Amino acid sequence: ISSGNTDRSTRPCHDVLCLDDFEIKARRHLPKPLFGYIAGATETNASLRHNAEAFQAYAFRPRVLRDVSTRSTATSLFGKTHAVPFGIAPMGISALMAYRGDIVLAQGADQSGIPMIISGSSLIPLEEIAAASPQAWFQAYLPGEPDRIDALIDRVAAAGIDTLLLTVDTATLPNRENNVRAGFSTPLRPGLRLAWQGISHPRWTTGTFLRTIVRHGIPHFENSYATRGAPIISSNVTRDFGKRDHLNWSHLERIRKRWSGKLVVKGIMHPDDAARAADTGADGVIVSNHGGRQLDGTASPLQVLPEIAARVGDSIAVMIDGGIRRGTDIMKALALGACFVFVGRPFLYAAAVAGLPGVLRAADILKTELHSNMALLGVTGVSDISADYITRA
Ligand code: FNR
Repeated sequence: ISSGNTDRSTRPCHDVLCLDDFEIKARRHLPKPLFGYIAGATETNASLRHNAEAFQAYAFRPRVLRDVSTRSTATSLFGKTHAVPFGIAPMGISALMAYRGDIVLAQGADQSGIPMIISGSSLIPLEEIAAASPQAWFQAYLPGEPDRIDALIDRVAAAGIDTLLLTVDTATLPNRENNVRAGFSTPLRPGLRLAWQGISHPRWTTGTFLRTIVRHGIPHFENSYATRGAPIISSNVTRDFGKRDHLNWSHLERIRKRWSGKLVVKGIMHPDDAARAADTGADGVIVSNHGGRQLDGTASPLQVLPEIAARVGDSIAVMIDGGIRRGTDIMKALALGACFVFVGRPFLYAAAVAGLPGVLRAADILKTELHSNMALLGVTGVSDISADYITRA
């Protein structure tokens, strides 16, 4: 049931025991091109594989006979306390996967006490999403022209958002062959193949696609300055990417001068770039290879995390995303120097298959795993988790 932002039913979640179960359900629920768009990566999918494998390269050294009866997963970040040290990563065109997908993710994050990052490629205006979650951050893809950068910053500030995140690993469009093979494109191209996918996935077609169009009209890339105002069925999301390939550190400096809130740079994979971001005045970085969706064959974020944390961890917030599916994955990331983590695909699968109850269930599963595994590791607070608890597997 793509019940969107109603909590009509928790039924689709009763047999979901871990985040990966949502992926299995989403594979059945979503038309093949849409599932492929979420699950896939680029070229050989090596970056994506590295992200998952990296967590198996580390193992815990638990401590025992400690009283862990009183423990907390609460974490502070940028002066705010969150229930857990994880949030929802930005994911574009979520409203095509789940009815009002971004709103559902925002409401789920808000009710779970976690931050959600609004994607710069959302199909719903950022103001509406921010209203559903006052803790939401906004992720921008930098437009090429300075006056458009200024307009974007002013719009985000006017929406009451206090944390701006710049994604910097998208200098050009990656080669996502899997999308071509699965028949996914932006804009979606109507045709027999797509029609058949719609017919064979009726819950998605009626619960998300038709419901969206009937109630809200054809979705637009409202936030994305790349395609502002252009309908998804006829827009060309690639149009502005050419201008992105000349972005450089001076753009970040310009933004730092204009934006008075917290500034985070996402897509950092090298300690020198992390240091440069810190020197430019960023308040944090997200160590990320975009979930393996940009350059193929990159190291996994977890692999480069220790050297980045060693370089800038004392001066700015070092966060990470990519392949985090378990409470134990979060603990490994914290042990290797992250202060916070973000999770992408599983939350979008959860929103697609079960709407708000799905997102709440996903957050709850991760929180419960974290809470119990902290006891087994022998710690009572997330800030206790250090390199002392981990070794190479
Ligand atoms: C993304 N990601 C992404 N990142 C970003 O900065 N802006 C965006 O609009 C998107 N869009 C997007 C769509 C979809 C469907 C996916 C799966 C991912 C990347 C995302 O924020 C994050 O870096 C990864 O998803 C993290 O990896 P996991 O948790 O999905 O393995």
